[in-house]
Amino acid sequence: MENIIVRNDGAVSEITINRPQALNALNIAALTELRESFGNLPQETRVVILTGSGEKSFVAGADIREMKDLSAARARELARLGQTTFSEIERGRHVVIAAVNGYALGGGCELAMACDIRLASSNAKFGQLEVGLGIAPGFGGSQRLPRLVGKGYAKQMIFTGEMIDAAEALRIGLVNQVCEPAELMQASRALAGKIISKSFSAVLAAKEAIDNGLNMDDESAFRFEAEIFGMCFSEDDQREGMDAFLNKRQPGFK
Ligand code: CAA
Repeated sequence: MENIIVRNDGAVSEITINRPQALNALNIAALTELRESFGNLPQETRVVILTGSGEKSFVAGADIREMKDLSAARARELARLGQTTFSEIERGRHVVIAAVNGYALGGGCELAMACDIRLASSNAKFGQLEVGLGIAPGFGGSQRLPRLVGKGYAKQMIFTGEMIDAAEALRIGLVNQVCEPAELMQASRALAGKIISKSFSAVLAAKEAIDNGLNMDDESAFRFEAEIFGMCFSEDDQREGMDAFLNKRQPGFK
């Protein structure tokens, strides 16, 4: 692959978007490779750490050079490609941690938001800058940003097209944690390590409950949670986890 680097290390895989000449902006080739790289992860991968190459940028958006002369129909197709790719990342059977190592703008902010958890370096900058280019967000930003930070902050970010820094992103709940740049990958790996030490079938069950429940009314969401909770009891990990607790030993999950 030309634009994506994948490194697999047991249960943790690292996917790096690598177009440094364009601050890792996503052109169609990079988007397609990103989709393939998630689709082709080894069976044992549980957590993916997604980052950008270099110290300056996570992803500086969709590729403006490639978008400039698109017809309305082609632009719609591009938006669908970005949305589908990001939704596959969001809904896949992995936990995805975005290690935001610099600019996360437009499609870059949208990609980070499709991840389960976001860690940012202190030099990271977030923004939906589209209105400054004469367009509205197209890779899910107008939907995921208000769900994450609330309608008010989302509208302010999208209507002004201004960047916010990592501290502000932490304050409004757009990121979970801010680290020194040199410590970002270590912190992401430490978080991945905590997740893989637990029952992965339970983690995936909880992910499904959270992601699906958010789009339901309360009663349907609680019923769905009960379904998921019930399903956990047909997994070996439930018996192992509870037996380990009662026998004062460490669980050995599958
Ligand atoms: N698309 C294409 N090329 C890009 C790019 C992008 N999104 N962002 C940066 N680049 C390129 C620049 O054109 C430049 O290339 P050249 O050296 O060939 O001129 C190279 O990357 C380095 O960028 P700068 O010289 O601009 O670097 P800087 O440090 O001065 O500025 C920056 C950094 C503030 C991130 C600036 O590059 C910038 O504003 N980039 C655009 C960010 C943006 O608007 N993103 C949203 C895109 S729209 C979108 O994503 C729509 C959507 O919802 C899907």
